[in-house]
Amino acid sequence: MARRVFLVSGATGKQGGAVARSLLKRGHAVRALTRDAAKASNLRTLGADVVEGDLRTGKGLPEALKGAEGFFVLTTPYDKGYDAPDFESEKRQGRTALRAAKTAGTPHVILSSATAATGDSGASLFESKAANERLLVELALPATLLRPATFMDNFTSAWGLESLRAGVLSFPAPPETRMELVAVGDIGEAAAAAFEQGPRSFGATIDLTGDSQTLQEMARMLGSWIGRSVRFEPEVDPESTERFGVFPAVSDPEAERREIERSIESLEKRWGLHMTRFSTFLASTPVPRTGADA
Ligand SMILES: NC(=O)c1ccc[n+]([C@@H]2O[C@H](COP(=O)([O-])OP(=O)(O)OC[C@H]3O[C@@H](n4cnc5c(N)ncnc54)[C@H](OP(=O)(O)O)[C@@H]3O)[C@@H](O)[C@H]2O)c1
Repeated sequence: MARRVFLVSGATGKQGGAVARSLLKRGHAVRALTRDAAKASNLRTLGADVVEGDLRTGKGLPEALKGAEGFFVLTTPYDKGYDAPDFESEKRQGRTALRAAKTAGTPHVILSSATAATGDSGASLFESKAANERLLVELALPATLLRPATFMDNFTSAWGLESLRAGVLSFPAPPETRMELVAVGDIGEAAAAAFEQGPRSFGATIDLTGDSQTLQEMARMLGSWIGRSVRFEPEVDPESTERFGVFPAVSDPEAERREIERSIESLEKRWGLHMTRFSTFLASTPVPRTGADA
């Protein structure tokens, strides 16, 4: 049987990289999209076909989509760096990619958005994702929506480590706020499962959470991981609050925890996934010995 071909954007990054690896591991053929093929040599080594293309301009997309059974669409406001988010660019990437899929008649599109991108979170960070989600519906594409929670990997990455090494975990919310978390590797598995389920996954929104912890507890866990005490400090910065939105006070924290646990169980059951817990993620992530990238 011919191998099924999937086009994966963002393949040189965290999510797309995880999707490409999961698809390859399951025996599928992957076209890894990048603006610069030189960045994708490790994917080529893993067996992916590296194709050059740009989601902003649409360059290379018609050729890359030819014969592809699925398209994993990853958009980002950080294409000019984390210090300069460009939400118009993210909308443009979404428009260009989704319209190209429509024109090509791609049989299955998976759009990666974010947990809070419901359009009513009040967080400016998610407006461009909400716009792309709306377009997905307007174009009536055969599609699945992934909404990953905050990446566990953020906290063990180079920028997360810098703060942990100074003994502080900081976020613009009170310490008892429960944060939903997902391991990036699980995003790859979820996308691969949705592609394999094909039409059975059309119209589905997959909220991807593998665990939840309060910010205070996360500081404690990250402290044991890094081998020093880490305290949580709420970040007081109006700009961060505008970006992330306001976290409403929860009247029954235990009921909130149980509700999240129930949704993780049903996520695992529906998609045949095994979601990684934060403790397992930390236990399997080596602590870098220097300030170099995690
Ligand atoms: N961090 C979190 O906790 C979290 C949680 C939920 C959602 N998100 C969302 O996840 C997204 C970022 O995903 P990530 O962390 O996996 O990305 P990443 O590691 O930062 O990598 C970005 C990827 O986007 C590609 N890219 C950028 N501009 C492009 C363009 N114009 N055309 C084609 N490809 C382009 C890059 O490819 P080349 O440079 O090779 O072209 C690269 O592969 C953001 O939208 C973020 O809001 C993040």
